[in-house]
Amino acid sequence: MNQSQSVKIGKTDVLIAPKLGLGTNKVGGHNLFKGLKDTDGKAVIKTALDEGISLLDTAFMYGLGRSEEIIGEVLQEYDRAQVILATKAAQDVRKDYQPNNEPEFLKNAVEQALKRLHTDYIDIFFIHFPDKTTPKDEAVAALAALKKEGKIRAIGVSNFSLAQLKEANKNGEVDLVEDNYSLVQRTAEKELFPYLKEQQISFVPYYPLASGLLTGKYQATDRDKFERFTPAQFRQIIAALVQVKELAQKHAATVAQVILAWYLQNPALSVVIPGARKPEQVQNNVGALNVELTPAEYTQIDKLFREF
Ligand SMILES: NC(=O)c1ccc[n+]([C@@H]2O[C@H](COP(=O)([O-])OP(=O)(O)OC[C@H]3O[C@@H](n4cnc5c(N)ncnc54)[C@H](OP(=O)(O)O)[C@@H]3O)[C@@H](O)[C@H]2O)c1
Repeated sequence: MNQSQSVKIGKTDVLIAPKLGLGTNKVGGHNLFKGLKDTDGKAVIKTALDEGISLLDTAFMYGLGRSEEIIGEVLQEYDRAQVILATKAAQDVRKDYQPNNEPEFLKNAVEQALKRLHTDYIDIFFIHFPDKTTPKDEAVAALAALKKEGKIRAIGVSNFSLAQLKEANKNGEVDLVEDNYSLVQRTAEKELFPYLKEQQISFVPYYPLASGLLTGKYQATDRDKFERFTPAQFRQIIAALVQVKELAQKHAATVAQVILAWYLQNPALSVVIPGARKPEQVQNNVGALNVELTPAEYTQIDKLFREF
C-alpha cells in the first residue's frame, strides 16, 4: 500500500493519512509512568505533527486528563482540521477508577474531553474498558447519539472480548476496535480479525512495539522487564530481533522502523500508534513510512514471530 493513501475508519467518513499515528500515554501520563515532563510531552506532540503525523491517540486515563490538556494546548498552534483526535474514557473517578459504560457517564466524559482538548468535536471516541453491568449496545447507542450531534465522528471500543464487541455492535454502530496486538501478541488475529473483517470494523493495535521490546534495544538479560514471556520465549524474541536487525541494515533503517513497516503493510491494521517518550523516538518511528518491505521480507518477519 502507498503510505500516502488514506485509511477509512469503519463505515465513517474519517480518513487518516499517513497510516502511522502517535500513542500518547507517555505525554502527561504521570499516573502511569515515572519521570515524565510536560515539556517533553509537548515536544513529542509538536514533533509528530511537524513530521506529518495526523492521528493522536490519547485517553482520560493518561494523566487523568493531562495528556488531553497538553494536546489541546499544542493544537492551538496547529490547524485542528488536519489532526485526527482519538480519545477514550471509562474509568470512573468516583468509583476508584472502575470502568463505567453507563450512557450518562459516557456523555459527560465526552463533554469533559472536549473541554480539555479545546475542541468542539472528537474524531474517534473509544469506550476504554468494558464495565460489568451496562448492556454494551446501550453504551454504544449513547455514543451514536453524540455522533448524530457532531460531537464525535467515529465510535470505538477497546479491551472488549469478542462477545462484548458483538453486543456493542448489535446495530452495526461500532467503527473501530483498539486492542493489544503486536508481532509478539497475536491472539487478536484468530479471536477478533474474522469478525472485524466481516463487519467492516477497523482495527488499531496498541503496544505495537511491545513497550519498546520490538525496537531491538533490549538484551536477553532484560527478561525481568517483560515477565509475560517465559525465558525460552524471550530468548526466541531476542534471536528473531537479531534477524530483523540484519534486514534493517539492508534498508538502512532501524529495527523499530522495520517492525513498524510490517504493520503498515499489514492490511488487517488500520493505523499504527507507537508511543514515544522523546521527540527523537517519534522522528525515528516516522522513518518507517520510507521503508518498503518486499513480499518475501514481509513473510520472513511474519514467520519469525509466528508463535507469539
Ligand atoms: N486502549 C488501551 O487500553 C491502550 C493500552 C495501552 C496503550 N494504548 C495506546 O497505544 C499506544 C502505544 O502503546 P505504548 O506506547 O504503551 O507501547 P509501544 O508503542 O509498544 O511502545 C512505546 C514505547 O517504546 C519506546 N520507544 C518508542 N519508539 C522508540 C524508538 N524508536 N526507539 C527506542 N524506544 C522507543 C518508548 O518507551 P521508553 O523510552 O520508555 O522505552 C515508548 O514509550 C499508547 O501510547 C496509547 O496511546 C492503549
